[in-house]
Amino acid sequence: MCGIVGIIGTKPVAPIILEALKRLEYRGYDSAGIATLSGGEIIRRRAEGKLANLERALDDNPLDGIIGIGHTRWATHGAPVERNAHPHVTDRVAIVHNGIIENFRELRERLTAGGAIFTTETDSEVIAHLVTHYLDQGISPREAASAALTELEGAFALGIIFRGEEDLIIGARRGPPLAVGYGDDAMYLGSDAFALAPMTSRVSFLEDGDRVEITRTSVAVFDVHGQPVKRPIRIADVSAALVDKGNHRHFMAKEIFEQPEVIGHTLSEYVNPLDDTIRNTDLPVDLASVPRITIVACGTAYYAGLVAKYWFERYARVSVEVDIASEFRYRDAALTEGGLAIFISQSGETADTLAALQYCRAQGQKILSVVNVTESSIARASDAILPTFAGPEIGVASTKAFTCQLTTLAVLAIRTGIARGAVDKTDEARLVRTLMEIPRHVAEALASDEHIQTLSADLAKARDVLYLGRGHNYPIALEGALKLKEISYIHAEGYAAGELKHGPIALIDEEVPVVVISPVDELFDKTISNMQEVIARGGRVVLISDKAGIARAGDGLWAEIEVPPVDPLIAPIVNAIPVQLLAYHTAVSKGTDVDQPRNLAKSVTVE
Ligand code: F6R
Repeated sequence: MCGIVGIIGTKPVAPIILEALKRLEYRGYDSAGIATLSGGEIIRRRAEGKLANLERALDDNPLDGIIGIGHTRWATHGAPVERNAHPHVTDRVAIVHNGIIENFRELRERLTAGGAIFTTETDSEVIAHLVTHYLDQGISPREAASAALTELEGAFALGIIFRGEEDLIIGARRGPPLAVGYGDDAMYLGSDAFALAPMTSRVSFLEDGDRVEITRTSVAVFDVHGQPVKRPIRIADVSAALVDKGNHRHFMAKEIFEQPEVIGHTLSEYVNPLDDTIRNTDLPVDLASVPRITIVACGTAYYAGLVAKYWFERYARVSVEVDIASEFRYRDAALTEGGLAIFISQSGETADTLAALQYCRAQGQKILSVVNVTESSIARASDAILPTFAGPEIGVASTKAFTCQLTTLAVLAIRTGIARGAVDKTDEARLVRTLMEIPRHVAEALASDEHIQTLSADLAKARDVLYLGRGHNYPIALEGALKLKEISYIHAEGYAAGELKHGPIALIDEEVPVVVISPVDELFDKTISNMQEVIARGGRVVLISDKAGIARAGDGLWAEIEVPPVDPLIAPIVNAIPVQLLAYHTAVSKGTDVDQPRNLAKSVTVE
């Protein structure tokens, strides 16, 4: 995680770096800092916590300098305090780092023995001392940086500036992304094209292992073997406008309420409403003959994959395995040659998902990714992508990206069913018409907002909450629990309703609210029996169901949330709405930082 920026320009860069860091704050907000060269000397300002603190520090004590680097931190090694904030400096260099230096202990011991004085608990500080160590041997900054890079193990995106070198920034990428921006009288380095968008849309992306030397008028890239290479300049399709909250108090609320629109947008890319067909976008495999599908993702995106498994099996009769990327990448999965591997990622930068993708490629899989950021590392490493059209998601808790992922995957499952002969023309038309109803039904589900807000005031008093669901609503139970814990800090767990009596039922008492997701479908009676077992033990049940389901549920509910009756195909998408609203309002009731919850970051570029 962490976001980094570097700029060489012709006017003071600190205010521009600060603006770029605001666009990278989604990558971490534990501390921030900027270093520039003033009269050739390194000067810096740092502050603990969010960027607003750094902004105040700069107001009180501005930085001049027309070359500089900046950083917004998600702490890995060392507490999130000002002392550990980047840039890290010696008297000769300043560095910003995103990633983890795995051999930092050995390097630190060696450099300390050689006289270096460390002032932080971070892994990153060794980079500054290592480069300085080589500079002290009398070699040039370019050579010193190259020599230091060969000694670093781990994952990093780096920016380095040097005392007395007013026209040089060195960047390097091993793992986390790094982009170079081309301006008219300035050059830029940044963790992504979004950070650079207000300054330039002309961007090239470094490949893994690249090192870059940037001056005001030139960019020289060297690959992993030190050979000069060209990385193509693209016109990044990223808005320069910082997305705002509109009339909403939080980005998360805005993004929840945007869902009818962005799902509609996503659908319009993948289905043809005029003749009720699925559009045939380019794919890397013949869906008719693919032997099996492996889906890999993390967190909420993984839950989208779990829902997709139900769809692929039901509508396409194809066998699907779904795994968490951090487990999958290390477990030596045996894959069938020619299989299809699908990666789901909002950011497209999740380190574990990218590593799993590389594993699958080495195993002869065709790589298809469902991503929200089409310029991302995962997108660029794939044979084909299916973009979700959710637009920028700023709230750390994923909402609209999740339902757009589901929408895209539902289309893909149906398309696979068509290719395999499991879905005929009549079914296709019916299923497409059903998909087209999602925006309307999501809007209907959003109408429960006020009711859920009232209910959440009570839920906010709970210490633990359970979520139950069966079938495709089981992943929605998992997602509901994840949403609640990450933004309200209330402990929550999702369970398959049928698992209740295999252990979790022991937790039930009047103190533990249980959210049951069960609209009327073929599993309704079974889930409702599990729900009654909870009620019989004094549990306080919040039932999410349709009108008929609520009527049939029996006595003893603590509360109910009504969702519209919908076809089972789209039920998980519609049922995602109340669990998002429940988490959102509970967090607001508790007064937590909804958009930037503690300890989290939006883009997880370290494993
Ligand atoms: C939870 C959440 C995370 C992400 C996960 C994967 O609200 O947002 O669990 O889903 O970190 O991120 P992406 O989709 O960017 O790969």
